[in-house]
Amino acid sequence: MCGIVGYLGAKDPKEVIVGGLKRLEYRGYDSAGVAILDGPKSDLKIKVVRASGKLSELSKKLETEKFSGHLGIGHTRWATHGVPSERNAHPHTVGGVSLVHNGIIENYQEIKAELVRAGAEIKSDTDSELVAHLLAAKVKETGDLFKAVELILPRLTGAYAILAMWEKQPEVMVAFKNGPPLVVGVGEKEMIVASDVQAIISHTNKVVYLDDHEIALVKGSELQMFSASGHPIKKEVTTINWSADQVEKAGFKHFMLKEIFEQPRAVANAIAPHIDLEKKTVEFKDLGLTSDQLKSIERVFIVACGTSFYAGMAGRYMIEELSRVAVECDIASEFRYRNPVIPKNSLVITVSQSGETADTLAAIRLAKKSGALTLSICNVRASSIDREAHGRLYMNSGPEIGVASTKAFVSTLAIFNLLAIKFGQIHGFVGADVQATAVDALLGLPAQMETVLSYDKFFAESAIKLKAYRGILFMGRGINYPIALEGALKLKELAYMHAEGYAAGEMKHGPLALIDERMLILMVCPSDQNYEKTLSNLEEARARGGKIVSIGTGDNHELKTVSDDYLALPKASWMLNPILAAIPVQLLAYHVADAMGHDVDQPRNLAKSVTVE
Ligand code: F6R
Repeated sequence: MCGIVGYLGAKDPKEVIVGGLKRLEYRGYDSAGVAILDGPKSDLKIKVVRASGKLSELSKKLETEKFSGHLGIGHTRWATHGVPSERNAHPHTVGGVSLVHNGIIENYQEIKAELVRAGAEIKSDTDSELVAHLLAAKVKETGDLFKAVELILPRLTGAYAILAMWEKQPEVMVAFKNGPPLVVGVGEKEMIVASDVQAIISHTNKVVYLDDHEIALVKGSELQMFSASGHPIKKEVTTINWSADQVEKAGFKHFMLKEIFEQPRAVANAIAPHIDLEKKTVEFKDLGLTSDQLKSIERVFIVACGTSFYAGMAGRYMIEELSRVAVECDIASEFRYRNPVIPKNSLVITVSQSGETADTLAAIRLAKKSGALTLSICNVRASSIDREAHGRLYMNSGPEIGVASTKAFVSTLAIFNLLAIKFGQIHGFVGADVQATAVDALLGLPAQMETVLSYDKFFAESAIKLKAYRGILFMGRGINYPIALEGALKLKELAYMHAEGYAAGEMKHGPLALIDERMLILMVCPSDQNYEKTLSNLEEARARGGKIVSIGTGDNHELKTVSDDYLALPKASWMLNPILAAIPVQLLAYHVADAMGHDVDQPRNLAKSVTVE
């Protein structure tokens, strides 16, 4: 959480930093600030401008500001320590040292007590300001920001990505991290440090990712990398293949809407590298795990958070059905603390769009420690989880900016289709014919998704009616149960409405008591092996006065007759239905939230990349 940008170069730092922060606002948006050098060349001083609220508040304040220097840092915040306010906004500046921080300094109380005893004047409630005090003391001693960083590093425990500058060294930025991401963009005579390449890509596509316990020293137009103990290290320069316009809205009202409409392409991009079009087979060429390793797998664990977890839940149905390999699904924050039993020959699959979710990262580390093979399904290449795993598959969705995950979800579902087919083939349950049919179906999926998207007008009409209800129960069975959970999550996070996702067969065990005419039931009920049973559950809800919106396959008269509203999907296999059904539940939540005037791309209290637990 929190976005960091720093710039050193010939352009106007204010423009580069604010432009970058705009791209990083998904990481947090409750306050923002910049610290940029200003004044005569011989006596440059740090000038700080900060504002509570979204970045637009900071931009207003900056409209009339001019800075003469060429070095600056900026931050957009998601509060951990200290309420969202201007006082707690970053950068924090002490004795000419300014810094921005993403993460949590766990031993902040001990550091604070020590600083207070030494007479320091602490101005904010943040843990971050304390680090600025430590650095200010050390630059006084050493006359060098890099040395100061080296000296204070052993004092810090917890998760941090920190970028610092000192007004006495106007050609230097120092970045260091343990946990949250940091990346340096290496431009033509300019350097940009940021939490994510999205803030860098419009300036350069050459980047260097920092690993934990590394220090990046930016000196003029040079980048030098060091270990925490100050030894120089060599790092690879990565070329990013995203273009700058991929991170713009392209005429859509919101990023989320654009990303929902990008889903057919996202799915096509997710499957393309792994399909042999001639043989109609699934081939994982750069998986990082050998066929023998895959063959040895007797148990699969799928670990993730939020929407990624629901994608994993759907994956379980696919892998178990096609390969008869046992699959367990776990929420990462539970998995990492429940001392899980991970038997020999286990594969732990993590799913993460950002590749930076703290709990999922901890889960993969735990899995490796216990001897399991690990496989990451991730969107952001070279992210922490991606780098940690033994094997990797990419969602290939392109940048996802809307805080609510959409295209990464459907791409992951498509990848689980591929994995299930592969596991099924390896374990002898999926023959060539079945594989070819499944591959053909997957190849035809993007076109079917386009069809569902073309019904958007109907979804929007249906969505407006949702506002009238006290609560919404999303239900489904089997592989559509995770879609019910995902639909409820989307409605909660975007429309701030109470919604629950339930396995339809559980209704009689409690939720039926909730049902009256003020309760809306959204039944995910495509034609598959669970259709009849789901229909019975729908009838039970209807008999108790509940209003019904159903999502079904084709022109289903039976379902239409028992529903107040009916949303149709094209005919597809049971493994592909969830990908199609995801679209209406996303669009319902999107439209109702938009009609309520909510900020769909940046729902309150949330951030896209949850780099703290
Ligand atoms: C909900 C949503 C979140 C994320 C979750 C995991 O719309 O976006 O629930 O799915 O925070 O994030 P990643 O996939 O980046 O690990």
